Amino acid sequence: MTVPLGINEIHLGDARELLPQIEPDSVACSVWSPPYHLGKDYEKDISYDEWINLLGEVIRLHFSILKPGGFLVVNIADILCFPDESMPRIQAMNLSRHKSNVTREQVLEAKAAHPDYNRYQLASLLGCSEQTIDRRLNGNNIRGGKYNTQTRVHLVGSIIEDAATAAQLYMYDRRIWIKDPAWENSKWATLSYRAVDEFEYLYFFWKPGITVVDRTKLTSEEWASWGSRAVWEIPSVRANDDHEAKFPVELPRRVIRLLTFPGDTVLDCFMGSGTTAVAAIREGRNYIGIERQPKYVSLAREACRKENEKIEFLKDHATLNVKKAGDSSQLALLD
Ligand SMILES: C[S@@+](CC[C@H](N)C(=O)[O-])C[C@H]1O[C@@H](n2cnc3c(N)ncnc32)[C@H](O)[C@@H]1O
Repeated sequence: MTVPLGINEIHLGDARELLPQIEPDSVACSVWSPPYHLGKDYEKDISYDEWINLLGEVIRLHFSILKPGGFLVVNIADILCFPDESMPRIQAMNLSRHKSNVTREQVLEAKAAHPDYNRYQLASLLGCSEQTIDRRLNGNNIRGGKYNTQTRVHLVGSIIEDAATAAQLYMYDRRIWIKDPAWENSKWATLSYRAVDEFEYLYFFWKPGITVVDRTKLTSEEWASWGSRAVWEIPSVRANDDHEAKFPVELPRRVIRLLTFPGDTVLDCFMGSGTTAVAAIREGRNYIGIERQPKYVSLAREACRKENEKIEFLKDHATLNVKKAGDSSQLALLD
């Protein structure tokens, strides 16, 4: 290996190419959230098989860079609308909405009166579902009608677990992250028995070796409220304006506080906007970031710069306050 990948830097490149450049046995914890295969902008060019291979390869490359006794933590969700050509058409008869009296003419009339209305607004105006609006206007079924491929739920846990086990990284724990209730920002009034999308997983994998378990690293309140808890309730990021899939900083922060010590190195090889690096800086850990898109590399670097600046400012203030306290105690002595 040439010069190993620098720490406290965000590196531009593909995780599969850069991971082998990280110093062996150097990473105390790697925590990341990969593309979910949901058709986001940054993953639209990658097929299902390529996605599986990407996850497998990235996980495989972790074995040599993790410290013995260290952890890999993957945050991911199941695929709730996995297209399956071979799946029979779902035959749902929705009794409450079965017979909508709304006619095509009424929809056209409402549309003419409110040309700027979208189908949700038209539905609310006419007291029917947006599916009825779409059917009346286009004669199709936007939720996967006769001519559309059917979709089913596809669990991803076993894909991740199998890849990790093959890499000799063993499932150590799993936790659930409850995001905000999806109906808060969802336009859909569901016409099925399916639950709304409101949680994701955290899968913890362990590299064999000695793991120091130090119960003093969290306060007893922290152990009780999240350290020992399988379910973490953390609101998701509301303003995904600069990156479409940020996780909240509290998520990697908890992982980092639980599994590492100050001065340890934390890795995120799907760095996105820099959230894990910010959490690492906040907790006094080193970080290594890898991200494939230049615009996100800039975003992450800027987030790190700001976080470092904040820490410096707080340190300066703390010193100033100590100094002030010292000065006033001297004054008190003089009095
Ligand atoms: C789910 S997002 C991670 C978001 C991040 N946790 C945050 O809070 O901003 C996945 C990121 O992985 C990046 N990515 C996708 N494929 C990659 C690859 N092969 N190597 C490195 N980064 C990749 C995407 O550009 C995207 O920014």
